[in-house]
Amino acid sequence: MCRAGGVAAGVLDCGFMAVQISPSILTADFARLADVAEKVADAADWLHVDVMDNHFVPNLTIGLPVVESLLKATDLPIDCHLMIEDPDRWATAYAEAGAGSVTIHAEAAKAPVRTLRQIRAAGARAGFALNPGTAVQDYEDLLGEVDMLLVMTVEPGFGGQPFLDIMLPKIRKARELIGKHGGEIWLQVDGGVSAKTIERCAEAGADVFVAGNAVYGSDDPARAVRDLRAQAERAS
Ligand code: DX5
Ligand code: ZN
Repeated sequence: MCRAGGVAAGVLDCGFMAVQISPSILTADFARLADVAEKVADAADWLHVDVMDNHFVPNLTIGLPVVESLLKATDLPIDCHLMIEDPDRWATAYAEAGAGSVTIHAEAAKAPVRTLRQIRAAGARAGFALNPGTAVQDYEDLLGEVDMLLVMTVEPGFGGQPFLDIMLPKIRKARELIGKHGGEIWLQVDGGVSAKTIERCAEAGADVFVAGNAVYGSDDPARAVRDLRAQAERAS
């Protein structure tokens, strides 16, 4: 088992990438977020929090005050996925609040280099997300600023959407570019990741797996996390 323990994870000594599971709370009960976190506390590496502003995506979720409360309620590191129109304005505050990872979208950031650097300077890992229609090759020059690349495998905005198979070549391409770059950059996938799709993602080179419905739609979320991890490890 390659449980990575949050920010200490990466490429293992044996040369294999460490599989990490980041359950998304998007479709869980927002009135009970502390319990939602607790359900996966012993099994997951991260808690994935989807921040949506109803502008960048057609959905509205939670913002900084709720993330601040959640940080006090769980020991799991928080993986903030900012689907907001102005990440340059807001990203650093999530890092300063204590999020372990803060991801901004390529399509929204007007000053991605500055914002990614500010996230790192505030002590968080800097994540960079690409919507399905955004080519990864266009951002090769930015890889030095990035700790985690997120390839969206659905159009962002809602949980429970079907996985977009056509993103598999992009995951492979992203892994190839990361390999060429040489630094330690994690490759996250988000959207429709489940027992049916996680192996294809792992085979294509992903190592950090966001799963919403596949975890919180299950009767036993911790077990779902462990099963997904085992599947991804077998396929990596
Ligand atoms: C979608 C969000 C995802 C979402 C994934 O825009 O970024 O994190 O919660 O949910 P599932 O795994 O159900 O597709
Ligand atoms: Zn997400």
